[in-house]
Amino acid sequence: MADRFDLVYVRKQFPALRRTVSGRPAAYLDSPGGTQTPQCVLDAITRYLVDTNANVHGQFVTSEESDRLLDQAHAAVADLLGCSAPEVAFGANMTTLTLLLAQTIMRDLRPGDEIVITELDHEANRGPWLHLAERGVVVREAPVDPATCTLDYDALEALIGERTKVVAVGYASNAVGTVNDVARVVRAAKQVDALTVVDAVHWALHGPIDVRALDCDFLLCSMYKVFGPHVGVMYGRRRVLERLRPLKLVTQEDELPFRFETGTLNHEGMAGTIAAIEFIADLGRRHGGAEGEAGRGAGGEAGRATDARRRHIVTGMRAADAHEQPLAARLIEGLSEIRGVTVYGPPAGSPRTSTVSFTLDRFTAPEVARTLGERGLFVWDGHFFALRLVDKLGLLERGGLVRVGLAPYNSAEEVERVIAAVGEIAKAIH
Ligand SMILES: Cc1ncc(COP(=O)(O)O)c(C=O)c1O
Repeated sequence: MADRFDLVYVRKQFPALRRTVSGRPAAYLDSPGGTQTPQCVLDAITRYLVDTNANVHGQFVTSEESDRLLDQAHAAVADLLGCSAPEVAFGANMTTLTLLLAQTIMRDLRPGDEIVITELDHEANRGPWLHLAERGVVVREAPVDPATCTLDYDALEALIGERTKVVAVGYASNAVGTVNDVARVVRAAKQVDALTVVDAVHWALHGPIDVRALDCDFLLCSMYKVFGPHVGVMYGRRRVLERLRPLKLVTQEDELPFRFETGTLNHEGMAGTIAAIEFIADLGRRHGGAEGEAGRGAGGEAGRATDARRRHIVTGMRAADAHEQPLAARLIEGLSEIRGVTVYGPPAGSPRTSTVSFTLDRFTAPEVARTLGERGLFVWDGHFFALRLVDKLGLLERGGLVRVGLAPYNSAEEVERVIAAVGEIAKAIH
């Protein structure tokens, strides 16, 4: 891999970064809430709406182009996730796809069947399963250790038994950056033939995804968290998708992936999705030489061109992570040295994303976030829908956490601005 990350090139791709706040450049440190959008994605969306914009399966050229675009969008996401195109379904967002998936799986469950979820997860991978309790399903929650913000894997494994039909787990925590040992959870679920559902919404920006290596049955993410527009995507293992009985209308085709895609899809969003994935592949081309790093191909019918794109995507994701990790380490170090700051997250040395959350004594998270916002530092505050975790941290009633979420376009200078600004807020009191 090329050792220097081309931050100048990357930043140039994002028109939003030109924005200023009271004369200071805006620093977008809210990637776990959604990334900024590169020009190529904006262009692809506009191009679709200007030049194509038709419904599918018609007898004229723009409709035929829309058919092709939808195929290409499925193929692009297949390269992002390491699967085949028919195993990809598009939807409104991850939450809606998961709700539908849970209702679909429910059709084959009986009262007394069990589902395991985790306390660390975003509500989007908890609520859809908790809803099933009203139909007699027993939902068990694997505990998070508030001292380390990590899952208790032994306790999780102990919850999985003969009656477990689904295990739903996050890939990484959008609140504190913990990266879970998903492969271990999947292995435990497979011992009892339970389905596995992985929420990769937060992880997708921070590292490559390989659903075959994970061996999960479902994995969901949202393209607006990875440079794309507001569409959700779901991987489903082919034989499981074929076996399940989705809540579909008679008008819906029975073939994959259409049987899991309801209504007219977000075509312009799918055009933007292809461009977002190409943007990541392009990062890989720039940072990994002509062939990119070795990586698993998408395989199957996808062919050689798509194998190359997959390799570039993997290289691009690794290059971005290698850029962000030292920034996150510096952020943790700098914040930890400020009197009154508590940084939350996994212990040093544990796998984590570049998302760093903290509290500052005597200030609520909204107060800190507002002051930073006034200085052009856009960070998030609150519970970020990781309700159970923030509750267990004892912060739910106190405004939650301040979250600084890095993306490939963030710089060391922006990190220093955050540290300095938090230091100044702290000084006003201590
Ligand atoms: C970890 C995680 N899971 C799920 C979601 C929900 O995603 P969506 O907005 O696509 O429904 C989010 C959104 O913030 C998230 O961070």
